[in-house]
Amino acid sequence: MAELKRNVDPNALTPGMKLVQVTRFDSKYKCLDSRTLAFLKSDLQGATIVVVRDSKEYSVSVEELKTLDEIKIVERFPPGHRFAMIEAGTADVLADHGFLAFTVEISAGQTAVPSAPDLPPKARARHIENPQQARRLDEAEQFLELVQEASPTRDRATLAVEEMLEQGRRGSFSRAAAEAAVGDLLNLGMSQAVQAIAGLKASDQTYAHCVDMAAIFADVYGAVSRGTQKEPSAETTSNVLLAGFMHDIGKCKVPQEILDSTARFDSDSEEMRIMRTHSSEGAKILSQMDLGKEAVNVALCHHVKKDTSLKNSYPNIRYDQVLPISRMAAIVDVYQALIGKRNYKPNWVPGKAVQLLMKLRSSEFDERMLGHFLRSVGIYPIGSLVRLSTDELAFVVRNEPEYLERPVVVVVETARGELISHHNLVDLVAESDLSITEVVDHYKHYSDSTDQAFDIFRSVRLG
Ligand SMILES: [Fe+2]
Ligand SMILES: [Fe+2]
Repeated sequence: MAELKRNVDPNALTPGMKLVQVTRFDSKYKCLDSRTLAFLKSDLQGATIVVVRDSKEYSVSVEELKTLDEIKIVERFPPGHRFAMIEAGTADVLADHGFLAFTVEISAGQTAVPSAPDLPPKARARHIENPQQARRLDEAEQFLELVQEASPTRDRATLAVEEMLEQGRRGSFSRAAAEAAVGDLLNLGMSQAVQAIAGLKASDQTYAHCVDMAAIFADVYGAVSRGTQKEPSAETTSNVLLAGFMHDIGKCKVPQEILDSTARFDSDSEEMRIMRTHSSEGAKILSQMDLGKEAVNVALCHHVKKDTSLKNSYPNIRYDQVLPISRMAAIVDVYQALIGKRNYKPNWVPGKAVQLLMKLRSSEFDERMLGHFLRSVGIYPIGSLVRLSTDELAFVVRNEPEYLERPVVVVVETARGELISHHNLVDLVAESDLSITEVVDHYKHYSDSTDQAFDIFRSVRLG
């Protein structure tokens, strides 16, 4: 007689079992992006999927899936489907796709390997028994895998911003084009990976700026929502991402030579006067595009400072007219401008930019929002290069609000200054005898003229 066994993890799958359902997934299935959607449509044809849309569950065919859906269950694999029956190697393929737990049918005489309680498979392979630590390390590893994909994703989104401004100059704006451009960034892991790249790689002041700002903004907004009330809906995440992505759309009304200039304009110059019109121009455009009052307020108010008498506060708007989401956007906008490496200003590495924001807190920012921002981005933002108490250098790859001083790091350089070719994750929460002694300026430590720090970060290989 066949027996149904639930919550089986990939390590416990053995050849001959019949796969009935996939019941747990990694983060990319929480909010489908176009790439994950394409994979599901091509590789899971014929299966039935339970999805969450607008907080309700629906059972749909694979063909009916849409971006932003959250996948709850995959079931009813048609006979003959390559996942319907477990064969040698199937478990690895399923785990590689981010499928984490299954319901299986076991025929008489067959036994399932008992699963360890709720531990990610890779952590089990590392023999880590503390579930929290196992999860931290597993998520850090998934994050590092996404960094490989995130760089071309960021480049594509940057091009999309350039095209959007170009079309805007001709008076044409498309919400659908903007939504398509941010599609890939909707994956939480992807927005974090772009956030790390933002601190390591040079950016221009207009195009990559919008992409990095949107990725950081959506990530911070998600962390704030999760910490205070509940997981934001896919639609909310998408709207926040769009508001960040489009916050500088009014720059399409600024002449190209001013926009692309690497000169630093005097704050009383004509060029600056023109540049400052971008926020009210952007608000007009976004309200015509029906992007909602919050996105319009973000475009209008992201340069309004708490002390509105400051020279760099514009347009002339009372601070109580600035919505909380725009106060957060203002913080992220300055943070990205600081960490974005440009020719005409000093480079601020993320850990030092965070320190500067704290100094500006009383004059420029909403302090409650700044607190939320710092709890999300951390004291050592992901991608920061830090020195450990052993004198080794390491990149920060995972932060948790409760342990901001003790992130998960990956060591890349020995105390003698030699680059390491095979890397290990170090969880500073678990390694209590280790600590961070300083934030290292990666632009000074590595070559400033190339993206050497990013190349080292991208070539991290665990093992
Ligand atoms: Fe702006
Ligand atoms: Fe901006």
